[in-house]
Amino acid sequence: MATRRVRNTAFGAATFKAFEQYTPAGQRLFDDPVGPRLLSGFPAAMVRHRLLRTASAALMNRIAPGLIGAMACRTRAIDDAVTDALAAGNRQMVILGAGLDTRAHRLPVLRQVPVWELDLDQLQRSKVAALSTATDAAVPAVTYVPIDFAHTPIAGALAAAGFGAAVPTVVIWEGVSQYLSRSEADATIRFVAGLASGSRLVFTYVPQTVIDDPRHARTVSRLQWHTGYDQAALGTVLSNLGLNLVEDLGADDYRARYLEPLGREIAVSDLERMAVADVR
Ligand SMILES: C[S@@+](CC[C@H](N)C(=O)[O-])C[C@H]1O[C@@H](n2cnc3c(N)ncnc32)[C@H](O)[C@@H]1O
Repeated sequence: MATRRVRNTAFGAATFKAFEQYTPAGQRLFDDPVGPRLLSGFPAAMVRHRLLRTASAALMNRIAPGLIGAMACRTRAIDDAVTDALAAGNRQMVILGAGLDTRAHRLPVLRQVPVWELDLDQLQRSKVAALSTATDAAVPAVTYVPIDFAHTPIAGALAAAGFGAAVPTVVIWEGVSQYLSRSEADATIRFVAGLASGSRLVFTYVPQTVIDDPRHARTVSRLQWHTGYDQAALGTVLSNLGLNLVEDLGADDYRARYLEPLGREIAVSDLERMAVADVR
């Protein structure tokens, strides 16, 4: 059973991502007018008010160096991977552990694409309530599927919500795998492997070396991270579960691909990586 702390990680991720919207437009890695509006209370005030935002970013970069930068880069990398996956012929999208993900509201390529968002029931209710006041744009075609991955198989929950597994699908699994048990995480990958050929999994993972490193023990324990994947063996692990690894990006790749062309020098944590894998 996912704990309250795990559920709250969705608000943490949304807060970290919201900083990017206050970067000058030409320098931004992604544009998200909705995300900051889903926040309430102190996080909302913190990102909106310049002095508070600057002081909080500096403090966060001392407590969790590079986390804000990593969140912005991973969001952009996943946006790009989703756009590529749709251009490659995928026709629907599933977001596993969607939290406060705003892609359905902000990526133009998703306007004509059915989207299923899966997360804990209570989290989804909070999100839908926040969205109703945060955006007056036409509500995109999102089906919310409440689920606890620890108890309910994903395939059955999605089928009951009208999802057709024969249609090529891009699946986002962002910032979630580390919160699951190994068997839940592997079952998730197996679910994706069972989708139509050409479907694509876009996901983040924590390298096993980070989970095992005593220097990160406090972070790992505080954030309740359980499961990592061995970076060197990722291709083999995915292949054994039925997927072909296409791309595996870390902080150095983010800097070269996204930050250096914009002349941005921000700290980027390497505690998490982003990968793309295709269904054979
Ligand atoms: C760190 S947040 C990431 C949210 C979003 N994907 C993002 O990157 O902004 C992790 C998400 O996984 C969800 N989650 C974790 N364990 C879960 C479980 N057992 N069942 C359903 N959702 C779960 C949490 O509720 C939360 O929304």
